[in-house]
Amino acid sequence: MELPQTDSISKDLSEALKEATKEVHIQAENAEFMRNFQKGQVTREGFKLVMASLYHINATLEEEIERNKQNPVYAPLYFPEELHRRTALEQDIAFWYGPHWQKTIPCPPATQHYVRHLHEVGHSHPELLVAHTYTRYLGDLSGGQVLKKIAQKALDLPSSGEGLAFFTFPNIHSPTKFKQLYRARMNTLEMTPEVKRRVTEEAKTAFLLNIELFEELQVLLTQDHKDQSLSWMEWLRQWPGSLVQDTTPAETPRGKPHISTSSSQAPLLRWVLTLSFLMATVAVGIYAM
Ligand code: HEM
Repeated sequence: MELPQTDSISKDLSEALKEATKEVHIQAENAEFMRNFQKGQVTREGFKLVMASLYHINATLEEEIERNKQNPVYAPLYFPEELHRRTALEQDIAFWYGPHWQKTIPCPPATQHYVRHLHEVGHSHPELLVAHTYTRYLGDLSGGQVLKKIAQKALDLPSSGEGLAFFTFPNIHSPTKFKQLYRARMNTLEMTPEVKRRVTEEAKTAFLLNIELFEELQVLLTQDHKDQSLSWMEWLRQWPGSLVQDTTPAETPRGKPHISTSSSQAPLLRWVLTLSFLMATVAVGIYAM
């Protein structure tokens, strides 16, 4: 007798993804940063940080989508007009960080990790790209709408939607219908059970990358800086591993900003030199007495 197959692999990809990510979705909703956000406890500082991370992530994701748009493992899901967020995020980031945003927006380590991971998938495992577009785009079309209203109220933003273009999908009239279409397209992707298993695992990884990012943002926002005279932005610049891009992002051949991974050690060096100089001066003074 053939046993009914209840494992997620026997299901359509859309159902398998929803089931596989149920637990991590709850985990993501309950990350402290998101819990506070849902209660309307979001500051401009926190919102700016999360928007900067979303810019880096979406710019990278969309770069990898463009690379793979004709690959049958992704092609049926190519909806640039409806879904792509890079241009909207550029408008938001300019609103939040000003015209020189490319020089000043932070890219904390968890965001860098997410970005590196997306490049790796786009270059070496394009069959897993669907896990990332599912996680971002269906997520942003779902919970994202609630978050937009919360941010608008908490941050007292204009109803014109300035600074919140990321949350608005002008070419999608019904998010519910679009999500149905997207699920149907995901289900047309031809994949072996093994690849389907890897895709569902990858979707969990995508959620975990988001959770890691939220946890780090929460630490950045609550960190009791040892040197209170440093603003968090200055402090980020000095954190080894580069949390803030110090220099104008170099243009890649595709014209996309390159995310810097070098950190500015100059302030630390200045402090060490100043301290050494002061100590030498005091020593000479004592010797002269
Ligand atoms: C405060 C946080 C969040 C809230 C309130 C929230 C809320 C929701 C809701 C209500 C749905 C169901 C919509 C529907 O069935 O039409 C949904 C779906 C979804 N959410 Fe979230 N969400 C949150 C965070 C996240 C995060 C951080 C991610 C991933 C980065 C995410 C990814 C998704 C995805 C991929 C779906 C589609 C599930 C499917 O239909 O297969 N969500 N979310």
